[in-house]
Amino acid sequence: QENLKTDYIGKNIYFYDEVKSTNNIAKFFGESDEEEGVVIIADTQTKARGRSGKPWKSPKGGSWLSILIRPNVPPTHASLITLATGVAVCKTLRTIGVNAQIKWPNDILINDKKVSGILTEAKASFNNLDYVVVGIGIDTNLTMNDFPDELKENVTSLKDEANREIKEKKIIRIFLEEFEKFYNYFKEEDYEKILNEWRHLSKTIGSEVIIHQPLGKVIEGYAIGINKEGSLIIEKNDGSLEKIFAGELRHKGN
Ligand code: BTN
Repeated sequence: QENLKTDYIGKNIYFYDEVKSTNNIAKFFGESDEEEGVVIIADTQTKARGRSGKPWKSPKGGSWLSILIRPNVPPTHASLITLATGVAVCKTLRTIGVNAQIKWPNDILINDKKVSGILTEAKASFNNLDYVVVGIGIDTNLTMNDFPDELKENVTSLKDEANREIKEKKIIRIFLEEFEKFYNYFKEEDYEKILNEWRHLSKTIGSEVIIHQPLGKVIEGYAIGINKEGSLIIEKNDGSLEKIFAGELRHKGN
């Protein structure tokens, strides 16, 4: 990557034609003595994972990558890394002129359709993170034929939104530069910088939302904030506040 302007993220990049999941390879490096910043990129993945155990379609034309990092912090800080990554993806997509927004916790949308997702997997021992693998999938040059029928209404690709073929190398380069910038804020404990940027880029903050929580509970209200644990703060219709840590969110009216 001759043009990559980073200090340590992507100094080593491993390219593959086909892997099961780039996250698996990054985890393998995590278990070895590989330094932080190594990046795994694949043209296709045969067994990629999305959040909540869902499979993630990864045909040719998309950008599928994982970054290995070794932050020296307690496991509770891992969600901030995911938020920082969402900010980096969103800012990257905006550089090509599309109005990308973040949907809590970490989907990237364009015109209310998902274009990118993030899967963070961490390994901790005692109260410290050994390593974190941040997996990013961007539907860069995919077409509608690449998606299963049941998803077609809710997904899009960068190419479809920008009405042109997108240079994948360029997208990944800009993303790695943004990622390093926001991961550095994380290391410097400038958490407010990350959270403020997240709030600014998010479609969720200030919107009416419905959240289906893991145990079947449904919460409705206004999303008024996010904290550094990655929890969304909801103001319910009776005026009470609730912190939501996990769930499937829908913006009302979409
Ligand atoms: C989501 O459900 O929104 C998260 C999707 C994450 C997909 C990426 S593609 C690269 C990396 N490897 C995987 O197996 N998953 C992530």
